[in-house]
Amino acid sequence: MTKDFRSDNTLGCSPEILEAITRAAKGTATSYGDDEITARVRVRCSELFERDVDVFPVITGSAANALSVASMTEPWGVVLCHADAHIHRDELGGVEFFSGGAKVITIPGAGGKLHAADVQNAIDGVRNGSRTGVPSVLSLTNATEAGTVYTNDELRSLIEVARRNRLRVHLDGARLANAIATGTSDLDGVDILSFGVTKNGGMTADLIVVFSRELAEGVSIRWHRSGHRASKSRFLSAQIEAYLTNDLWLRNARHANAMAARFRDAISGRVEIVYPVEANMIFIRLEKGVYESLTRDGFLFFDAAIYGPDIYRIMTGFSTTPEDVDELAAALEDRQSCLSC
Ligand SMILES: Cc1ncc(COP(=O)(O)O)c(C=O)c1O
Repeated sequence: MTKDFRSDNTLGCSPEILEAITRAAKGTATSYGDDEITARVRVRCSELFERDVDVFPVITGSAANALSVASMTEPWGVVLCHADAHIHRDELGGVEFFSGGAKVITIPGAGGKLHAADVQNAIDGVRNGSRTGVPSVLSLTNATEAGTVYTNDELRSLIEVARRNRLRVHLDGARLANAIATGTSDLDGVDILSFGVTKNGGMTADLIVVFSRELAEGVSIRWHRSGHRASKSRFLSAQIEAYLTNDLWLRNARHANAMAARFRDAISGRVEIVYPVEANMIFIRLEKGVYESLTRDGFLFFDAAIYGPDIYRIMTGFSTTPEDVDELAAALEDRQSCLSC
């Protein structure tokens, strides 16, 4: 039984994906992404997203984000994103580095979500400043860093603002599967998607999916030049192909989401749940003593103090079991009642 709820990337990898890697190890294949498996991934993604796309396998979501966003802006551009966006908080300036200095400007938003009016205000603010930079990219994240999921209407209105103001749209889909598993699927108007695989059962693979194909050459050059064009790309693509076969990506995501919902239901009314639980993350407020006691007993989850005092994050994944969840919920209940006794 796992007691590890730190992240969906502390988990292992789906057997189907491991088997696909083993199969890909037989024989030889053309290198640097020109192999047959990568070609099939492109066809599969074109079917899935119902338009012709270009694809670039990478080993991290951070690389997918930085290379994608950098391909959509000049060095003097402004990239707008949520204040908690991974590209802002967690990637050590990857976007700024790969774009040659584009400025990332953040916008606050409750529950991890941006709102169209705030985005418009931010664009106006930058334009009025006139020397700040040129608003160039809106980067959205779905599912969000707060574990919430944009509705299609919310996505449409955000993308509409970007389009009206001639901004490109990037979607950080590190957990897009978890979002789509809830029924949100509108990707119309997105120029480039960072499509997560690793966090949802992959071993080490994410995918840049380019919808606006005029951007593909710029992505391709940055992908190669930055050292992200793996010579044995077929092993990345094999993971992605297996992920997209027989709906593994959706099955894994539905399961992870269901485990989060199970945990929410088990603790609701007894522990403060900070954000709506819509994907595979639960943010709760706990007394520090409870957290420390659970940690001493081997339950691992993150202190999420950047979201506010006494806030902790629990994350479920494709291999989290109902028993894992129930054990954590029971231990939490036990520690809470001990504190008040
Ligand atoms: C929303 C989001 N985007 C991007 C990433 C980056 O992925 P990686 O850790 O593979 O670089 C993460 C990682 O946690 C994430 O949560």
